[in-house]
Amino acid sequence: MRHNIVLVGFMGTGKSVVGKRVAEKLGLKFLEIDEIIEKKEGASIKEIFEKKGELYFRRIEKETVKEVSQKIGVVISVGGGAIIDEENFNNLKRNSVIICLEASPDTILERTKGLRTRPLLNVPDPKQKIEGLLKKRASYYKRADYCIDTNRLMTGQVVTRVIELVSQISS
Ligand code: S3P
Repeated sequence: MRHNIVLVGFMGTGKSVVGKRVAEKLGLKFLEIDEIIEKKEGASIKEIFEKKGELYFRRIEKETVKEVSQKIGVVISVGGGAIIDEENFNNLKRNSVIICLEASPDTILERTKGLRTRPLLNVPDPKQKIEGLLKKRASYYKRADYCIDTNRLMTGQVVTRVIELVSQISS
C-alpha cells in the first residue's frame, strides 16, 4: 500500500479499536499516537496532562505525529485533538488517506462515561464539554478525505466501511 490509513475524530468514536482491526484485516502495522507518547514519557496521558500540562502534551504529540507520518503503509490512530493543529494535519496528509469517525455528543458520552483516562472529559459536565469541543473542532474534522457516521454502526461495520473506502483509492 502506498498510503497510510489515518483515523481521526473525537474521543470515543472508536479510532483505536477500528484501527487495530483494519490493520489486522489488511495485514498492516497499527500505530497509536497516544500509546507511543505514553511509552516515550513513561506515563499515561492522564498523568502527562496532570503533571506537565496540556501544552507539553501537545508538543510531544506534534513531534510524534511528525515521526509517525514519515512511515508508509501503516494504520495510524490519532488522538482527537491532534488534527486541529495545522502542522500535524499537513504532516499526516502528505502520504495518508485521512478518515474521520464521527459520533453525536450523546453517543460519545455513552462510550466514554466512567472512563477516567481522558483528562479533557474529566469535568463536572462532560456533555457540555463534548458539545463545546465538537463545535470548535467540527470544521477541522471535516478536512478528512472521508467521514463515517458511526452512531448506528457496530465496530465491524465501521471496519468494513474503512476498508471499502481505502480499496477505492488503491484500485
Ligand atoms: C484528546 C484525545 C485523546 C488524547 C488526549 C487529548 C483530545 O485521544 O490524545 O486525552 O484533545 O481530544 P483519544 O481521541 O484517542 O481519546
